[in-house]
Amino acid sequence: MINLNKISLKFGLWFLGAMLILEVFLFIFLHTSMVDSRIEEELAALQARGNSHRDVLETSYKEETLHHIAVMEAKADTEVIITDQNQNIIITSSKLDKEEQTIITKEIKQVPRDGVTLENRWKSEKYISTITPFTINQNQKGYVYMFRSTDQIQGLISRLNHHFIAGAIMILSLMVITILFLSKALTTPLIRMKRATEKLSKGDFSVNLPDMGNDELGELSRSIKILAEDLKHLKEERSEFLASISHELRTPLTYIKGYADVSRRKDIGETDRDQYLSIIFEESKKLSNMIMDLFDLAKLDKNTFVINRMEVELCSFLHSIYEKVLPAFKEKGVELDVDCNKNVQVMIDPMRFEQVVFNLLDNAIKYSEPNTKTSISVKRENGTIVLKIEDEGYGIPQDDLPYIFDRFYRVDKSRFRGTGGSGLGLSIVKELIEAHDGTIEIKSEQGKGTAFFISLKELP
Ligand SMILES: Nc1ncnc2c1ncn2[C@@H]1O[C@H](COP(=O)(O)OP(=O)(O)OP(=O)(O)O)[C@@H](O)[C@H]1O
Ligand SMILES: [Mg+2]
Repeated sequence: MINLNKISLKFGLWFLGAMLILEVFLFIFLHTSMVDSRIEEELAALQARGNSHRDVLETSYKEETLHHIAVMEAKADTEVIITDQNQNIIITSSKLDKEEQTIITKEIKQVPRDGVTLENRWKSEKYISTITPFTINQNQKGYVYMFRSTDQIQGLISRLNHHFIAGAIMILSLMVITILFLSKALTTPLIRMKRATEKLSKGDFSVNLPDMGNDELGELSRSIKILAEDLKHLKEERSEFLASISHELRTPLTYIKGYADVSRRKDIGETDRDQYLSIIFEESKKLSNMIMDLFDLAKLDKNTFVINRMEVELCSFLHSIYEKVLPAFKEKGVELDVDCNKNVQVMIDPMRFEQVVFNLLDNAIKYSEPNTKTSISVKRENGTIVLKIEDEGYGIPQDDLPYIFDRFYRVDKSRFRGTGGSGLGLSIVKELIEAHDGTIEIKSEQGKGTAFFISLKELP
């Protein structure tokens, strides 16, 4: 909780920092350009006023006109000083102060007809000023000095500053609100997902996350939901598996314990004892087979199962298996047939693959009546080799087919109590085939028979 709050804090601070820098730059730029253009405008206006006085003077240079100009300026924000060409004052609109005095005593070089700016340092000086020359009758010349107090300009700028500060405060508060909202919107789903994963790690798989849309957060939340379901499934599978194991181990152990107990009695005949001992032997064999199978499965699960693949010619390999299993088939009265006389090279671990075929043939014997036929055949199908093992046995009901490769899964457990194994055979077969990068499929019809199809890559 605290950590995620930190994320939102970090996110917020970064965002705020970045926005602040941006805003400060923007404001400085805006401010200076506004102030500059304002000053330029003021200077241009001052200059224009001086120029218009010049025009008036040049049309009628009279005492009256001079007076008129002075009166006009006395009433305005600006001030005027008119001098002759030696900078001797002819008339002023108000009393001169020291600063104005210094400006008009400055030496003047060539001034263009439309005048120049004499002072534009509005921050440090008391006045900004311009000068415009005038000429009357070619010889009598003079200058119109215009002044404007910088107090007013400074007032203007400080008003502008106030506007800027108000604007900045408004933008800043808007930004803070937006950031708070954004970081909340971003971190709330994160906090939810964090809680969900915490729940998962504690073994509670009832994760309840709302749909968060199609963005990255939504994807993450969907992945967490999938993970929760997988974990739940795994957990259920594991407890089911454990329950089946203990159940499967208990049955032969009960037999062993019971018959061992009976065999210990002194009052039983030799033949009975022999029979009991052979039951004990059979059941222990079953147990040890089952434990070996479980071991294999555990190794396959952990991926520590080593298969040593090598190039093997499949047909001769199948024929040698045929020789080995034929006696068992004969004993049960089931015919066995191998149809394979091609030269088919595959990469398999012969020992493990033999285990696969043995398991399938073992099922074929176990789940077939005498006088039926089991056949093994090999076919090429666009680049892959399909090994088919088909029997004419009891078949498997359609409802059971999807689970047939599950561990401990057996069809009709009660009916095959005597013959039935532990239900591990096919799950081992499937894992082994997959370890060989192959696939296995099943087709079965109740009462007609079952066929397994193993597909493998053929070596060129
Ligand atoms: N060829 C088949 N014909 C009919 N039913 C079959 C056949 N092969 C498998 N089955 C059914 O599928 C179940 C699972 O087979 P699997 O080989 O996994 O276990 P099992 O033969 O019972 O025991 P195990 O092989 O571990 O000794 C069997 O119990 C049987 O009901
Ligand atoms: Mg089996």
